[in-house]
Amino acid sequence: PFAWFQKMRKESPVSFDAKRNSWDLFRYDDILAVLKDPAAFSSVRPQQGPVLLGSILGMDPPKHHQMRNIVSKAFTPRSIAELEPRITEIMGELIAQTEGKTEIDLLQSISIPLPVIVIAELLGVPAADRQLFKDWSDRIAESVEDDSEAAIQKFLADKEKVRRELDDYFMKVTLERRKQPEDDLITKLVQAEVDGEKLTDEEIMEFCILLLGAGNETTTNLITNAVRIFMEEPSLQEKLRQQPELMKGAIEEVLRYYSPILAMNRYATKDVEIGGKQVKKGDLVVTWIGSANRDEEKFPDADRFIVDRTPNAHLAFGQGIHFCLGAPLARLEALIALPLILAHFHDMRLPEGTKLEAIPSTFVYGVKELPVQFTPAA
Ligand code: HEM
Repeated sequence: PFAWFQKMRKESPVSFDAKRNSWDLFRYDDILAVLKDPAAFSSVRPQQGPVLLGSILGMDPPKHHQMRNIVSKAFTPRSIAELEPRITEIMGELIAQTEGKTEIDLLQSISIPLPVIVIAELLGVPAADRQLFKDWSDRIAESVEDDSEAAIQKFLADKEKVRRELDDYFMKVTLERRKQPEDDLITKLVQAEVDGEKLTDEEIMEFCILLLGAGNETTTNLITNAVRIFMEEPSLQEKLRQQPELMKGAIEEVLRYYSPILAMNRYATKDVEIGGKQVKKGDLVVTWIGSANRDEEKFPDADRFIVDRTPNAHLAFGQGIHFCLGAPLARLEALIALPLILAHFHDMRLPEGTKLEAIPSTFVYGVKELPVQFTPAA
């Protein structure tokens, strides 16, 4: 998409699509202004769809504010930091399973299972239910195959079905935790209170489902996209082994360069001007953060991966009131996983003749498979 972004930033940075009454924004400054003005650009979708839409992600103030207060109490940087030893352990198990191999698909071996296991444990899902979980999160992440009526119907029906299965599952767990608290996130959500307000069963369910949908595939793609760059620029592998203090910044640069989420939707609540164009009340505004992150006005040498780029005010986690709640967790998982990958898999390279296939989604950036050939560390 990056060539298209570049062309649009130059030729039509605020672009109207008359068929959908929608605007596409490609410039950093325009996008930042929209994300920082939730009064003019709402996150509430006019037509509620089947999955993720009733969650915090699709709320405006004041409801968003109340909900965010409650859930962020259950999701503090400290409780995330406490996960470090466990994440390290899970990574150890995943790497142990590659023993004896010299080629893996990074997605199947590491980048898919890691976030799924972490989220499942964070929520308090027993290990026995993990496979169930993985299937659900895959099905949430699936996109529509083509735009035929039949494909769309099938897509909607399947999302609806996943939705009901998840509702039932989390409803059951929520009721159990109300009776018998455990040391997990669902219990914290059950107990959380702000200004005397508690979450309802439905709100807890909704939030759990959001974590699955918003947290798994994105983190998977962050780890995969990082290793992809390490193979595209192999000198980075030795450099990051020699200078581990560069890894934090390297992860930020991966987020900027190959943003796991390319765009978010907003809806204009009034007539408003963006970049000299007149946006009408009710219009859809698509903010291409994947393009903002390559805007040469903001990032010198924007199309180059610069491992120690500073400053690096990328928008990969959004900005403003909806700024990603899971950012500390995603960063921590990458910060643990990537050094272990570098430590165990030396000289990582794509097998001869590999053609990477993009995930078929306009909003998510990643590949379907990332075959990695390597020399096991001695
Ligand atoms: C919101 C990206 C990982 C939970 C967002 C938004 C972005 C984003 C761009 C803003 C959406 C908007 O403004 O409409 C990412 C990326 C991730 C990641 C790139 C990984 C690299 C996670 C994880 C979790 C999570 C691991 C949870 C475990 C959330 C939640 C929101 C959110 C709950 C909604 C916050 C709100 O509406 O106030 N994320 N995310 N994300 N993310 Fe993430």
